[in-house]
Amino acid sequence: MLKKIENLVVHATTEDLARSGAGLFVDRARGCVEKRGIFTVVLSGGSTPGEMFNLLASVEFRDRVPWNNVHIFWGDERCVSPISPESNYRLAFDKLISKVGIPEENVHRMKGEGEPPKAALEYEKELKDFFLSRGLPFAKEDPEVPVLDLVFLGLGPDGHTLSLFPGSSAVSDERRLVVENYVDILAAYRLTMTPRLVNYARTVVFLVSGENKAEILKAVVEGMGSYPAGLIRPVDGKLLWLVGGAAARLL
Ligand code: 6PG
Repeated sequence: MLKKIENLVVHATTEDLARSGAGLFVDRARGCVEKRGIFTVVLSGGSTPGEMFNLLASVEFRDRVPWNNVHIFWGDERCVSPISPESNYRLAFDKLISKVGIPEENVHRMKGEGEPPKAALEYEKELKDFFLSRGLPFAKEDPEVPVLDLVFLGLGPDGHTLSLFPGSSAVSDERRLVVENYVDILAAYRLTMTPRLVNYARTVVFLVSGENKAEILKAVVEGMGSYPAGLIRPVDGKLLWLVGGAAARLL
């Protein structure tokens, strides 16, 4: 039986999903720039956002975004060079950043090539300093936490999001905003934002596609089990699920 799941929209195709994500990006960018003169957005990694990046760089969408006032951050990054095919930055650079004329200084890359603990601390400091220097808001309930405008997230078949993999130390980190995380199943470090930071964003949107996500999506949205993605519960902001067809098979 389909429980009414708040703020979950099913799209027939991955193209419709990408279009929906791109439309949200444009709307939030224009609204935030109109209100505060700036739009801070966090991109997710993995493959799902690729089609949305292509659309945002297309003639249909590109010129509707005030790129000079957009500041791009990443929710997580692999500990690889920025030119590695594994890099989340590389995916966004190739499909979006290199095509829209966003000023270089507006692109806040997580330095995956660095020493993980140092790179995580540097990114956390860069984020806080950026918000302080621009007089941007921090969370009233947790004044260390910058309030991001829009955060895109993906969902892994094991219930991970960002680079918060089940059983890894970052999942239970309540102190940091950005942290290095050793992921056993990957035998590799990742850099990742934490739930403490993401949960104060104004809008958090999961983009989920792929038949292999159907079971985990149902479990997470229905609050079954305990998965890292289930830790994403915005305090004051909105949580949206944009789902591509096959992934919604069990809802
Ligand atoms: C990463 C991600 C990760 C991703 C999910 C979904 O660096 O891989 O941030 O959390 O969003 O694994 O990945 P797909 O979109 O490729 O299914």
